[in-house]
Amino acid sequence: MGCCTQGSSRPKPYDLSKRINVEEKRLINCKTVDVNQLMPIKYKWAWEYYLKGCANNWLPSEVPMQRDIELWKSNKLTPDERLVILRNLGFFATAESLVGNNIVLAIFKHITNPEARQYLLRQAFEEAVHTHAFLYIVESLNLDEREVFNMYHEINSIHDKDAFEMTLTEDIVREDFRTDTVENIQKFLKNLVGFYVIMEGIFFYSGFVMILSFHRQNKMTGIGEQFQYILRDETIHLSFGVDLINGIKEENPEVWTPEFRKELEEMIDQAVELETLYAIDCLPRGVLGLNAGLFRQYVEYIADRRLERIGLKAKYGSRNPFPWMSETIDLVKEKNFFETRVTEYQHGGVLVW
Ligand SMILES: [Fe+2]
Ligand SMILES: [Fe+2]
Repeated sequence: MGCCTQGSSRPKPYDLSKRINVEEKRLINCKTVDVNQLMPIKYKWAWEYYLKGCANNWLPSEVPMQRDIELWKSNKLTPDERLVILRNLGFFATAESLVGNNIVLAIFKHITNPEARQYLLRQAFEEAVHTHAFLYIVESLNLDEREVFNMYHEINSIHDKDAFEMTLTEDIVREDFRTDTVENIQKFLKNLVGFYVIMEGIFFYSGFVMILSFHRQNKMTGIGEQFQYILRDETIHLSFGVDLINGIKEENPEVWTPEFRKELEEMIDQAVELETLYAIDCLPRGVLGLNAGLFRQYVEYIADRRLERIGLKAKYGSRNPFPWMSETIDLVKEKNFFETRVTEYQHGGVLVW
């Protein structure tokens, strides 16, 4: 029972032999260091992501929605524009929750390293904030909450993306699942790729394009600003996921077989198809210079970037049809969101006695 405190024998006073050797820390299947020994830190990247996440505090209710409310009530949006906004919200409203639940119920238990767990706790909170954002948007615009929160049951292309993810969760949440065989470590990695690389790294990014296209045209800027915050958080989630996947791979090189790599590539292929069908559902006729064809191109472009980051070969060779998205991603990383806000979390640490 090396990785939890359960069953450990009562120590003799000053038994220094019980102190940990930091080199024995492992991301999964750690047998010698229990999960409460945060220090000394071995995986500095995990701690860095935790600090970055903490520096990015925000709450949906701090974003003013008045302009969005007025525009939504007016006749200045076309039915096609409303459709893409609604289907976008319908996807994210429950997808954020699927990601949060997968962290807490499927991933957390099997990660045996405290610094990585520290980040997972932070990320789980951020996913709760993101779900909160969709509740806040639905309430602000007075949308039909049942319609938005049921789209994953009612719109096939949303259902299919979520069903694809849920299968990956089901494999891991079984009570008897252990990461103690090559096959099971591969299953666990497929869950991580499915959620970090595909859900957060591909599905979410094409969703960001839709809403940020409105924002660029000065429409629905309250939702747009919330999406900028979410995008900023998600770029860190994706980077953490990539480092976690590559770290597990490095510590368990036997799992990275040609057959397994092929399976992962097939998963990415399937994701590109699912996201294309979703874009067709959201943009049956195209709005704001967006159409399903461009989305396919964008999804292929980001799929290539994601493949490369986990050590697989790029395969689609598509060019980025939305080069402004790269600029937006850089901008949101640097942007001082706090200047327009009442609460200055980043400078809130000084106590006056
Ligand atoms: Fe999220
Ligand atoms: Fe996320």
